[in-house]
Amino acid sequence: MFNRHRRLRANKAIRDLVRETVLTPMDFIYPIFVVEGENKKEEIDSLKGNYHFSVDRLPEIIKEVEDAGVRGVLLFGLPDFKDEIATSAWIEDGIVQRAVRKIKEVAPNLLVITDVCMCQYTSHGHCGIINNAGVVENDHTLEYIAKIALSHAKAGADMIAPSDMMDGRVQAIREKLDANGFNHVSIMSYSAKYASAFYGPFRAAANSAPQFGDRKTYQMDPGNIREAMLEIEDDINEGADIIMVKPALSYLDVVRWAKDRFDVPVAAYSVSGEFAMVKAAAQAGLIDEKNIVLEMLTSMKRAGADIIITYHAIDACKWLKIN
Ligand code: PBG
Repeated sequence: MFNRHRRLRANKAIRDLVRETVLTPMDFIYPIFVVEGENKKEEIDSLKGNYHFSVDRLPEIIKEVEDAGVRGVLLFGLPDFKDEIATSAWIEDGIVQRAVRKIKEVAPNLLVITDVCMCQYTSHGHCGIINNAGVVENDHTLEYIAKIALSHAKAGADMIAPSDMMDGRVQAIREKLDANGFNHVSIMSYSAKYASAFYGPFRAAANSAPQFGDRKTYQMDPGNIREAMLEIEDDINEGADIIMVKPALSYLDVVRWAKDRFDVPVAAYSVSGEFAMVKAAAQAGLIDEKNIVLEMLTSMKRAGADIIITYHAIDACKWLKIN
């Protein structure tokens, strides 16, 4: 006597009925890169099919996002000037601040999330303030991170997503937002953000590679998972509404641990390197892009992701509608 598992795989209808993990457009968030200037929609070399948009042309991509059924966007800004203290990151008329206002004007119901970090805005390319010893100084950086977050909230952001990996940043942001009347703005923290080689194409796209050294004194060591749980626990205690694991594909065990241990929504960020590998292999004719992408995204959800941030978001929604 043995079990006939194949009975429930016999045809598409029955497979559809017993599928345990089902992707929907509601799972995804789409990252958008906003640049200075006018009338710009330029394809990003390292992220084919994704574009640098100037603020005036954002409505085009926002319409595509909404038509596809994607619920939210995550904004990254490329400023026109950089300095030691990331001034262009918090000024009222900064690139992200203007982008948020524009998106809210044309799509008031779309969730607008802003990445809060300093690396695109600092001349040295690090995610914080550098002291005389060349080290990113944690507590000094917190003041700036909180200031950037507040400027995004003032522009109308629904959710703040700090990606700098300084200790105490969620608390600093929460306090700053609350003290200024923004207790309704939520925080999605990049809690378990690893020092990953998978960010390469993003750094090319965002012009944010560090000018010296690396990010290993603030981003996590890829070998560690208990440490990720400590990071997540602290972020929740400091006020994070949603926690994130990043990258996604090589860290699905971390996603699963997070899901099993904590009761806040878990986001997984499928990063630029994951996207670029799929694109390159598809272009070389080695894989079937659609099926690979849907399988990868399904595995992220199966691992426990409630939210998936992905450069495939628009395509995935279109494919899911056709399926
Ligand atoms: C900024 C930031 C990075 C990413 C998101 N926010 C780059 C980095 O930390 O070096 C990477 C996203 C991706 O690779 O898609 N700190």
